[in-house]
Amino acid sequence: MKKIVFDSYEEMCGAAADIYAKQLLKKPDSVLGLATGGTVVGLYAEFVRRSGAGEMDFSKASAFNLDEYYPIKKSNPQSYDYFMRQKLFDHVEFARFSIPDGEAHDPAAECARYDAEIEAAGGIDLMLLGIGLNGHIGFNEPAISYAMGTGLVDLTESSLVANSRFFGPDEIQPPQALSMGIGSIFASRSIVLLISGANKAPIAKRLCEGKIHTDVPACFLLLHPDVTLIIDRAANGD
Ligand code: GLP
Repeated sequence: MKKIVFDSYEEMCGAAADIYAKQLLKKPDSVLGLATGGTVVGLYAEFVRRSGAGEMDFSKASAFNLDEYYPIKKSNPQSYDYFMRQKLFDHVEFARFSIPDGEAHDPAAECARYDAEIEAAGGIDLMLLGIGLNGHIGFNEPAISYAMGTGLVDLTESSLVANSRFFGPDEIQPPQALSMGIGSIFASRSIVLLISGANKAPIAKRLCEGKIHTDVPACFLLLHPDVTLIIDRAANGD
């Protein structure tokens, strides 16, 4: 894992956008894995800015999102479908984008369909990740064993509390999610992991120890041949 430390969140987003720009120049029809959460908001704003300025072209690229709450309606402002449209897909043209369907009646069938769709697209070239306070990637929560492909997962108390900040007092927070598995993430050719903010410093420290802590799902990334960790000083504990 290659680690690059930046002074600010803005610089982090610029550096991550540069990696995506380079990927799109090399392969305009790249298959991009995308994430949700507060950390990626600045990067998506940078994608929108660069795309508007004609500096990045996503029009031949495909996008696959990591996860979606379950069950949730796409029209719910808390859905990741809504988040992605609002932050990115309504502003930047992609050849296509796909997000696990939080409205699916049969979640197992939806997970199998999603994996087949990623495979048919040729697999993910460049995967974007954030990290949960508990070390989750996507919604692969700390566990004794880890899923390979997309699956229905129970969210842990830590993730429910961390993400409750996005939900209003009258909004129902789904207790489950459909998430790409550790295997799906690991099969990506390249991975960019963004970590920002002092509240992520304890989990970043455990990841950066360079040991496989099996209760920190992100540690599996240490075994991947092409992971770039982009982190700010606050998260790095500097
Ligand atoms: C969310 C998502 C993850 C994300 C992480 C961190 O719940 N499922 O894909 O990376 O938790 O979110 P944030 O960037 O808001 O801290």
